[in-house]
Amino acid sequence: MPQLTAIVTGASEGLGKSFAIELARRNYNLVLISLPGSGLPQLASYLRKNFNIRVDEIETDLTNAESYPGIFNHLGLKSITAHMLINNAGLGNWSWFEDKGTAFYKKQIELNVITPVLLTRLFLEQANTDTTSYILNVGSLGGLFVVPKKQVYGATKSFIRYFTKCLQLELSGSKVRISLLSPGGINTKPELLVMNNRLKGLSKATIMEAEDVARIAIDGLLKGKKEIIPGLMNRFLVVLNGLLPAFAKEAIIRSRLKLILKS
Ligand SMILES: NC(=O)c1ccc[n+]([C@@H]2O[C@H](COP(=O)([O-])OP(=O)(O)OC[C@H]3O[C@@H](n4cnc5c(N)ncnc54)[C@H](OP(=O)(O)O)[C@@H]3O)[C@@H](O)[C@H]2O)c1
Repeated sequence: MPQLTAIVTGASEGLGKSFAIELARRNYNLVLISLPGSGLPQLASYLRKNFNIRVDEIETDLTNAESYPGIFNHLGLKSITAHMLINNAGLGNWSWFEDKGTAFYKKQIELNVITPVLLTRLFLEQANTDTTSYILNVGSLGGLFVVPKKQVYGATKSFIRYFTKCLQLELSGSKVRISLLSPGGINTKPELLVMNNRLKGLSKATIMEAEDVARIAIDGLLKGKKEIIPGLMNRFLVVLNGLLPAFAKEAIIRSRLKLILKS
């Protein structure tokens, strides 16, 4: 079978880096995208040395409008057709709405909403209609639950949920498979690791390692799963969310809010 090519956004660290390593193990050629100066060339050279794959790295700011056509122009010039797009890059926050400025929210909405929509549009334009193409949109359980201090982040992930579910219907007769990844907390960086280590009980049981999430996500994507929710506890919470009446959910959120306000 000829080697297929996957684009991974936000590949320099966290979940994106785990996606890059997981896909390299599965013999995919890679197009890795991250901000300049984030260590992408080092990751690319590690992957080239350790796996028999082609790796192209593109250092660009995905909130810059010129970055999207720039990526596909690069692929066109190198005669590369991408078969998989992993819309992973995203900007999170854990802060009261008033505590971040307008520039932060603008960047968060651009990276979490505009970037995956426009990359998906351009990816589909170049996709080979004779072979199966795959798109994985990285959402979050935060897009399903109302979580205080994640107001704009959660809203961007709700957008991704709606966008993905709608595209799944629109593309159902085609050779494009599109999956939504809805993870709970992931130990992707030191500050999250510290925060997650402080959790107890049920909340702690929802946390997963990035390598496991990446492996489960790629398995689900290739199987054509519509929504991938890694972790038994996270799947249980989603089922519970569907069963509880609205007033009970609001009471739980209010009690969590009280706890947050006290801490
Ligand atoms: N971590 C969690 O608990 C969790 C839970 C649910 C969902 N998710 C979702 O999973 C995805 C990955 O999260 P993560 O925790 O792995 O994030 P992360 O560790 O912050 O990594 C984000 C990646 O995106 C890149 N990036 C950031 N801004 C960019 C920009 N403007 N242009 C290009 N690349 C940019 C970063 O590059 P630099 O290294 O240069 O900054 C980095 O490679 C996100 O969509 C997030 O919402 C995460």
